[in-house]
Amino acid sequence: MSRVTELFARAQGSLAGGVASSTRVNRALGHPLYFERAAGCRLWDLDGREYIDLCCSHGATLVGHGDPRIRSAVERVLDAGAACSYENELQTELAEQICAMVPACERVRLVGSGTEATMHAIRLARAYTGRAKLVKIEGNFHGYHDQVMFSIGTPADKLGPESAPTPWAGSAGIAPGLAEQLILVPYNRPDLLAAAFARHGDEIAAVICEPIYYNAGCILPTPEFLAALGEEPRRHGALLMFDEVLSAFRMGKGGAQEYLGLTPDLCTLGKAVGGGYPLSVFGGRREIMDHLMPVGNCQHSGTYNGHPVSVAAAIAALQIYAAPGFYEHIHRLGERLFRGLNEAFERHGVPGRVAGLGARFGVYFGPVGSLTSYRDIVHHDRPLMLRFIRAAIERGVYFHDYGGGACHHGFCAAMTLADAEEALDRLDGAIASLAG
Ligand SMILES: Cc1ncc(COP(=O)(O)O)c(C=O)c1O
Repeated sequence: MSRVTELFARAQGSLAGGVASSTRVNRALGHPLYFERAAGCRLWDLDGREYIDLCCSHGATLVGHGDPRIRSAVERVLDAGAACSYENELQTELAEQICAMVPACERVRLVGSGTEATMHAIRLARAYTGRAKLVKIEGNFHGYHDQVMFSIGTPADKLGPESAPTPWAGSAGIAPGLAEQLILVPYNRPDLLAAAFARHGDEIAAVICEPIYYNAGCILPTPEFLAALGEEPRRHGALLMFDEVLSAFRMGKGGAQEYLGLTPDLCTLGKAVGGGYPLSVFGGRREIMDHLMPVGNCQHSGTYNGHPVSVAAAIAALQIYAAPGFYEHIHRLGERLFRGLNEAFERHGVPGRVAGLGARFGVYFGPVGSLTSYRDIVHHDRPLMLRFIRAAIERGVYFHDYGGGACHHGFCAAMTLADAEEALDRLDGAIASLAG
């Protein structure tokens, strides 16, 4: 019997559903894969099988697993006692580094997860504006707290009209009244964004959105949508909030906001910011951030906020992102992998397609139209995608499916062009197995 199967059976005796976190079950396999060892762009499971990692910790691992520069930064903190829940110099050093790299950030605060980052940023937007409503983009994902767990992965038959998408709850247990605070607008619909502001302008605290919609694989905003995001909230005294938990540092050191040339009032950063350790950030204009206690009256605190181990890892990671050549390498790898995969789909006559930017990408199957919004990808062929992921895993390339509509995948900077070729070779076999 495989040790992976054995451990899943054992885990179900004490961990609810056998996992520490629900989406760790890989839906293509029906169980999690347990990894015993990781190095660079590779993982080894409990049965000793080796994989090239194209999940990369759901985006947290952008440098690569076990990077020695991050490891020695962490070890220095451990050697010094790792006193947590106190302020220290490293937190200021990290904040200075982020403010220098990310255009929106004049002041920042540190939290553990992306979920906490959006939760606090939303409270702050409400405290600053004195308004309650949020414009949320249909399908965009902002973490697991109750304010935003609506309209993520809505089934095709529950979407409702584009002018008034259904606030479909992404979990049981969410008070229905919370949906009343949300105004839903499809991605890339500047006309419907303007209509929402025309109707509710003086009640809206903020628009929260993924500036690059990576949670649907990789969907880019049109220039018209970007222009509306830049104009509508400001015209009506509301804030623009970019959730860059997934997009930060992915395609450039200033994140999607720098890449797209639109600076929001507030933003959240997560995943890659911690270099593989639990740290997320929210930040923005000083005038808004000064509404946080102790200067203002909006609360944000937490025992583990700014933990020195994570902060040290983040400083080391950001130095790596800022070093010359880092993003040239990322873009070279991306071009090779995306082109290679698209060619393989074509060669084998499999209706698959890759769209990506920087170190993250989506693989779509079947009819996904022009890839402009959640409504395009809701019809993609999930059964074929799950077959693809299973075939890839069998051949030594790890993709994760967490059960959403489409998925996001990614690679890390530790990958070389030779590793990319090896991944493409293995995936050629996987794609060939889907043909016919
Ligand atoms: C855009 C976005 N926001 C928020 C989150 C939540 O972050 P976390 O899983 O760290 O709580 C995620 C996680 O995937 C995300 O992609």
